Amino acid sequence: MKKIVIAIDGFSSTGKSTIAKQLANNLNYIYVDTGAMYRAVTYFALKNELIGEDFFKQEELINRLGEITITFKFNIEVGFAEVYLNGKNIESDIRTLKVSKFVSPVATLSEVRKKLVEQQQLMGKDKGIVMDGRDIGTVVFPDAELKIFMTASAETRAKRRYKELLDRGHQLSYDEVLENVTTRDHIDSTREDSPLVKADDAIEIDNSDMTIDEQLNRLIELAKEIISK
Ligand code: DC
Repeated sequence: MKKIVIAIDGFSSTGKSTIAKQLANNLNYIYVDTGAMYRAVTYFALKNELIGEDFFKQEELINRLGEITITFKFNIEVGFAEVYLNGKNIESDIRTLKVSKFVSPVATLSEVRKKLVEQQQLMGKDKGIVMDGRDIGTVVFPDAELKIFMTASAETRAKRRYKELLDRGHQLSYDEVLENVTTRDHIDSTREDSPLVKADDAIEIDNSDMTIDEQLNRLIELAKEIISK
């Protein structure tokens, strides 16, 4: 059966990864969460005090990129590949509001993007992959057979993210989450290198009023149509 590359891009907290994971499992494809890779670099920067409230040692981070090895390992219990930094599972460490706060500035650095994009292209070279992020359909796989651009209002997205963080036991306010979502949208779509834009040939899906099943069914339908051609 023909294997394809499925690129899913969109703003923060549009639920891309939830759908991408389920789509990959349904098609028996590999799933790669590229946001987790930018978060892993940010986690490294925070741990090594290269970024903080009022400083960002960009040059030092760039010089130390060679110390960062990011890998994914499928965890059968959760049903997706978790992210590892230098052999340590950091899947839950990268989902904090602190990492979310610093990840967009880190993701503006071209040297960081170059390193991660190369690894992403290697992971997808044999196709049979669902990858989600901000620049997958535009930069990483401009020839992807299926490109999706997910949108939803900032309030809808912030409400979802707020609930997710509360469920994980984080203490924070809805306003903090909304502020983080809108700030990231702004930085991600106005940065110079690979800004978040919809690829011309991407299919836009506004999921504000769609259930997960509705989104999943739509994507499976779109993917199967291409695969069966
Ligand atoms: O998908 P996410 O929210 O976990 O992504 C975290 C940040 O990483 C996002 O705000 C911007 C950056 N990112 C990026 O620049 N390019 C990607 N392909 C994926 C994420």
